[in-house]
Amino acid sequence: MITPRTPFPTSGYFGPAYFCDREDELIQLKRNVRGGNSTTLVALRRIGKTALIRHLYHNMGKSYLMIYVDILPTESMSELLNHFAAAVSSALPESSHLGKKIWKYIRSLRPVLTYDALQGTPLISINSTPEESKQSIAELFSILESQSKPVIIAIDEFQQILNYPEKNTDAWLRTIMQELNNVSFIFSGSEQHLMQDLFMNPERPFYRSTQMIKIGKIEHEKYRKFIVKTFEEHRKFVPEPVVDEILHWADCHTYYVQLICNRVFLASGKRINSELWKLEATKLLKEQEFVFYGYREMLTKPQWNLLKAIARDDLVLQPTSSEFISRHQLGNPATVLRSLKSLQKMELVYREIDPNGDRIYGIYDVLFKRWIT
Ligand SMILES: Nc1ncnc2c1ncn2[C@@H]1O[C@H](COP(=O)(O)OP(=O)(O)OP(=O)(O)O)[C@@H](O)[C@H]1O
Ligand SMILES: [Mg+2]
Repeated sequence: MITPRTPFPTSGYFGPAYFCDREDELIQLKRNVRGGNSTTLVALRRIGKTALIRHLYHNMGKSYLMIYVDILPTESMSELLNHFAAAVSSALPESSHLGKKIWKYIRSLRPVLTYDALQGTPLISINSTPEESKQSIAELFSILESQSKPVIIAIDEFQQILNYPEKNTDAWLRTIMQELNNVSFIFSGSEQHLMQDLFMNPERPFYRSTQMIKIGKIEHEKYRKFIVKTFEEHRKFVPEPVVDEILHWADCHTYYVQLICNRVFLASGKRINSELWKLEATKLLKEQEFVFYGYREMLTKPQWNLLKAIARDDLVLQPTSSEFISRHQLGNPATVLRSLKSLQKMELVYREIDPNGDRIYGIYDVLFKRWIT
């Protein structure tokens, strides 16, 4: 495994040394996989779903065949086939018995083969109709099913199947899944409302077919320990209260914590104090300003005002209440409701159920929240 440029990577997975906690989630995932059960991971964006899948794979040992496919780039069944075929083949050495079998099958589909030098993975392009693609995917599944090693297939950004022109992709996949005894699935997706609809709506084929694991933020204490220790290992000293400030600023949201720690690591000498991280935070916000002005360009005035209001309040229980509306001068509840829907659709605002069972609204982009307040 390669080493990241700083011990706080902001993308990818580099092994347990750079990975904080998630012990309970790992245990749950392992239990599901060992029991042959499928799992759905739901979480806010940038909390660490993808990294957790990588971490699981790192921990599973060699007795499993582990396949990971990110389907965000796919827009149709035939592209799903391309990505799936590439994922299966890159999980297997071509010299292995199964690898040979898989490649023989893929070659029979007369693919155009290229290589993604950046990712170091094969790119496969097969010219096929939606029906043919479905059959080929089913065939790949049955080859995997026919050998003895248990298989884990993680499909990341799974909600993307809802954008395919082919309808009922989920029903088709669910039917195939039911016939597989040797394969367990992990579905992960960053668009929470779509994932919830796919797996929790009784009218959907995937309804209750998997165990849902909700991934929350890493506990403050654990993250603090991890950060102090990681700096220490690189002979940098950071007092705990300073780490607390950083975690608070980044809302303990994984990606943002990693981002600010990454910057602080690069900018620091042997000792890290409040001034240093604050300076780095200010620089980060300055760099992102064009993104924030982009939001303003993209949004209508009521949407923009609502976004700012939610950001300023941090978490909002009742955005249509007269108290919230009048305090932020947002007009009338109908406008607010409409804007709220649009902001959720654009993935700027999320809705969650808090531990008390109440609906709360918050904004995804922690940097924007810090910039506007
Ligand atoms: N437990 C962890 N410890 C340290 N860093 C982590 C951890 N989990 C995730 N990260 C880092 O946080 C960043 C975001 O993680 P990741 O991409 O896995 O999130 P995600 O939930 O899949 O995001 P998205 O919703 O955009 O798909 C990455 O840089 C990753 O390396
Ligand atoms: Mg991800």
